[in-house]
Amino acid sequence: MSKVTIVGAGNVGATCANVLAHEDICNEVVLIDIQGNMAKGKALDMWQQAPVDGYSTRVTGGDDYALTANSDIVIITAGIPRKPGMSRDDLISTNAKIVVSVTENILKYSKNPIIIVVSNPLDVMTYACWKASGLSDKRVIGMAGVLDTARYRAFLAEEIGCSPKDIQAILMGGHGDTMVPLPRYTTVSGIPVTELVKKETLEAIIQRTKMGGGELVNLMGTSAWYAPGAAAAQMAISILKNENRIYPCCIRLNGQYKLKDVFVGAPVKLSKRGVQQIIKLRLRKDEMALLHKSAAAVAEVVDVLDKMKLV
Ligand code: LAC
Repeated sequence: MSKVTIVGAGNVGATCANVLAHEDICNEVVLIDIQGNMAKGKALDMWQQAPVDGYSTRVTGGDDYALTANSDIVIITAGIPRKPGMSRDDLISTNAKIVVSVTENILKYSKNPIIIVVSNPLDVMTYACWKASGLSDKRVIGMAGVLDTARYRAFLAEEIGCSPKDIQAILMGGHGDTMVPLPRYTTVSGIPVTELVKKETLEAIIQRTKMGGGELVNLMGTSAWYAPGAAAAQMAISILKNENRIYPCCIRLNGQYKLKDVFVGAPVKLSKRGVQQIIKLRLRKDEMALLHKSAAAVAEVVDVLDKMKLV
């Protein structure tokens, strides 16, 4: 018996619900949105897709948090997306108010859910959710690394001319321009990527990855949803199946990587307990410096949020 609630029935939330329903591993997926009829309609549409695609997951939706009662996992995608010319940080006060109120509403109906945060600016919203929730830091996890590595892997697959399935990669730091891709930990079916891709090309791909979200905002006038929605679903799947998949996720570091009390991306095992373990890589000095720079950029926005006293 498992139930997943997705708050925010926009493009990211709806994509996430659709991917989860197709996986056919939860009994129920609930879509919640302030636009209740839109959430209800999208859920009904997905339920009508079930006989066509062959899944049993019951998809429901609306604006009433009572629908979310006893959720095992809650995925928060609610918030305004970026428009061209905006950074993720420009969304901070609007989205923090939304994330805090969503978190409070969720906890009225579910005692100890695992929460996956997708709203931007991601690392700061994950912190805001954790603080508002009072939950263990093993149970509030941000989605960014799975998406950022997916972009990096897709670009590499294109360059190498191989299946994206064969690219394994890890990436650390915040979800923004300071993210830290780690080519030393990137392999193509076990082959170090540096044996297949020239240094300059790899650097260009890393640069494109860092700007990957912005590239899509410029093309579409709003932020991406297929890969972000699927990435959040993938994290939920590892939790639901208790698989201990190792993914880069935004989590609270508390001494690991010489960082304390900051939410930032690092590799973790995801199990039914949430963060089962934080993997500690032996980073080189230059990699560690980049990670600390990225964590400092997140901490700066957290300070701005703290001063607003919204949570
Ligand atoms: C992106 C948004 C979801 O990176 O942050 O596309």
